[in-house]
Amino acid sequence: MQNLRIVVSIPGEADYDVRIGQEVLAGLGEQLRACPATAKASQVLVITDANVERLYLPQAMEALRNAGYEAANLVVPAGEDSKSLDVAGEVWNAMASVGLTRDSVVVALGGGVVGDLAGFTASTFMRGIPVVQAPTTLLSMVDSSVGGKTAVNLEAGKNMVGTFCQPAYVCADISTLNTLDEREWTCGLAEAAKSAVIDSDEFFFWMTDQAQDLFARKPEAVAEVVKRCVVFKAGVVAEDKTESKGVRECLNYGHTLAHAIETLAGYGTFSHGAAVAEGMRFAAYLSERLIGAEPDFVQAQSALLNALGLPYLDWTADPHDILVAMKHDKKARAGKVRFVLMRDVGAWDLVAVDDADVLDALAGYFSQTADERGRA
Ligand SMILES: NC(=O)c1ccc[n+]([C@@H]2O[C@H](COP(=O)([O-])OP(=O)(O)OC[C@H]3O[C@@H](n4cnc5c(N)ncnc54)[C@H](O)[C@@H]3O)[C@@H](O)[C@H]2O)c1
Repeated sequence: MQNLRIVVSIPGEADYDVRIGQEVLAGLGEQLRACPATAKASQVLVITDANVERLYLPQAMEALRNAGYEAANLVVPAGEDSKSLDVAGEVWNAMASVGLTRDSVVVALGGGVVGDLAGFTASTFMRGIPVVQAPTTLLSMVDSSVGGKTAVNLEAGKNMVGTFCQPAYVCADISTLNTLDEREWTCGLAEAAKSAVIDSDEFFFWMTDQAQDLFARKPEAVAEVVKRCVVFKAGVVAEDKTESKGVRECLNYGHTLAHAIETLAGYGTFSHGAAVAEGMRFAAYLSERLIGAEPDFVQAQSALLNALGLPYLDWTADPHDILVAMKHDKKARAGKVRFVLMRDVGAWDLVAVDDADVLDALAGYFSQTADERGRA
């Protein structure tokens, strides 16, 4: 299988390459030597987590050293708790103690947690040094490694402190995905399905056609879905780099209910992707009620999610509690909950919905039978 290469062009930023394929991690050092922002560096700090350390750190270090880089590494605990100011402080201190300068490079080797933490610390260390994303989860390949959002969490909420900082290069080695468990796999598939629904009929029907192969992790289908998601996200980010024009909001499709589910069920009870898939189902239901989406769309989206191993979520809660949780989301404005709704595949609207309509829709949605919700 040939490697795929995409050039991400965002106004006001240096273009960067995303390379997707099997074994691209082995060429990481050479790729950095070919990248203008990292070619002349001598020192590289690889930041990874304890799970990925075992699996892929030796290969990444060898690739960097073979290309003549002086490579050090820092391993943080796996999991969302590492996206904290405490851990960021440890990372900044480690950067200083290994002697990174403004000519050095940080490589984020891992999932979205490592990507966000490494991106944030690199973009603030000495007022910013280049970061290279080497994503190893499907979610981080299809979403978080491209687009330049970095963050850590505060007690007050997720991603409260962060920067916009585009990576210098993205190295997406899809062979690393073979070691992901099914929960993490379907988590990434949910974000990919979200992209397909927002993007176009072409992407949506391709994904519907390829759902079995994607679930089975067939390399050609996986590389292609990563490519399509990167192209889609790069297009959105190019129009709205700092989330100020409303375009980037489309990426929140399914996330309004998803965040409420994660809050009420307890963070980690369901995978983020399972919550997003349920949020997409609810958003489609709301779209049918409020902005005239056709039942065929609701049905087709549900069939895609089912085929990707994302059946409806066996969870419910009091609509009032869900509404309160939705309003805590930092994206609620002027008291109304805002949803990304779909008139059809590829046609989204941002809609501020009155509380009474949200409550009514939640009651209606959760009173459906399992078959109706899952449209199995
Ligand atoms: N910056 C953005 O635009 C953006 C977008 C979406 C999500 N995010 C953030 O991404 C984070 C979630 O990312 P994630 O889902 O990748 O989670 P994660 O980074 O926690 O990774 C999930 C788990 O998989 C393990 N893992 C990683 N690669 C592996 C591999 N190849 N084989 C086996 N195990 C592996 C990790 O150690 C971890 O236990 C959240 O913090 C979220 O806020 C950021």
